[in-house]
Amino acid sequence: MSTTTPYARAFTSDNVAGAAPQIIDAMARAAAGPAAPYGADSFTADVRRRLCEIFDHDVDVLLVSTGSAANALSLAALTPPWGSVLCHRDSHINNDECGAPEFYTAGAKLVPLPGDDAKIDPEALRAAARHKRGDVHSVEPSVVSITQATETGAVYTLDELHTLGSIAKEAGLRLHMDGARFAGAVAAHGCTPAEMTWQAGVDLLSFGATKNGTMTADAIVVFDRSLTPELAFRTKRAGQLASKMRFHAAQLAAYLTDDLWLHNATHANAMAARLQEGLKALPDIGFPGAVEANVVFCRLPQRVIDGLLAEGYAFYHDRWEPGVVRFVTSFATTWEDVDGLVNAVRRLTA
Ligand SMILES: Cc1ncc(COP(=O)(O)O)c(C=O)c1O
Repeated sequence: MSTTTPYARAFTSDNVAGAAPQIIDAMARAAAGPAAPYGADSFTADVRRRLCEIFDHDVDVLLVSTGSAANALSLAALTPPWGSVLCHRDSHINNDECGAPEFYTAGAKLVPLPGDDAKIDPEALRAAARHKRGDVHSVEPSVVSITQATETGAVYTLDELHTLGSIAKEAGLRLHMDGARFAGAVAAHGCTPAEMTWQAGVDLLSFGATKNGTMTADAIVVFDRSLTPELAFRTKRAGQLASKMRFHAAQLAAYLTDDLWLHNATHANAMAARLQEGLKALPDIGFPGAVEANVVFCRLPQRVIDGLLAEGYAFYHDRWEPGVVRFVTSFATTWEDVDGLVNAVRRLTA
């Protein structure tokens, strides 16, 4: 493949990156010899053991192949069909999952809420949590879903999480966290995985890994283990119970070994910070939101956007208001990649 193909300069998403070598090695090792199917293998037990340690909690774990599956199955276990899922209007579940949450919940309604940096505004949540409770003419508020790190690359502080968690619990609602970029959030704030999840009231976490080094494996981490039997049936029914589960598990085990997950996320975040620093120094460039993880939203003059596209840079540029673009870095982004992009913007703004 020629180096001038768009994906040689791809800042479209963190899923354009390949897989970490440690993950590939683990997959190769897992391929040798027989193993029990459907998650009864030792690799899967090892992943659970590691996640119990990392979260300092007796968790159950269901391994799935996509973040959308983790989200939709989790939400299905947390709301009845007549319930509602209170989420941010920019959330992935609301915009980018083709109705999977509605489908898997058998018709629960997603109620989109406002808030800066794709963080749910607490007052909007408080109002929505009380709206038409017990009124059979309306859906029943049932679960709050928050994304950590958010879709715009911001990270909820522990205080913010605790506030939303308390509002949810006081209203009797369940709490789901879409952690497609959970590692990036932990790396950004340096707090413990426990503080960011069950200690803030999270019942189920979609523990993303594919954007940060694995090939095809994400996980549902179950803090409220009374949900596990239902989730197990739902996962099989959704075609997400892999018969050769050891390969999902081998990826996750390697991901969690020697802090690879945090190491990769720290690197991805550093690349985004470097990109923002480089762009900040140039004229006519603005940043509509906080850059705390590995996503950089910025405002560029149209001629710069056109120039970058012509040079083979790939990034989302036509999804928001004119001039707003998104660059995403990953564990595989290099300093040279970032500096190349900054230099290209510098040339095009001159
Ligand atoms: C915030 C968020 N949640 C979940 C996902 C899961 O996506 P997928 O089903 O493509 O693995 C993504 C992927 O872009 C995401 O950005």
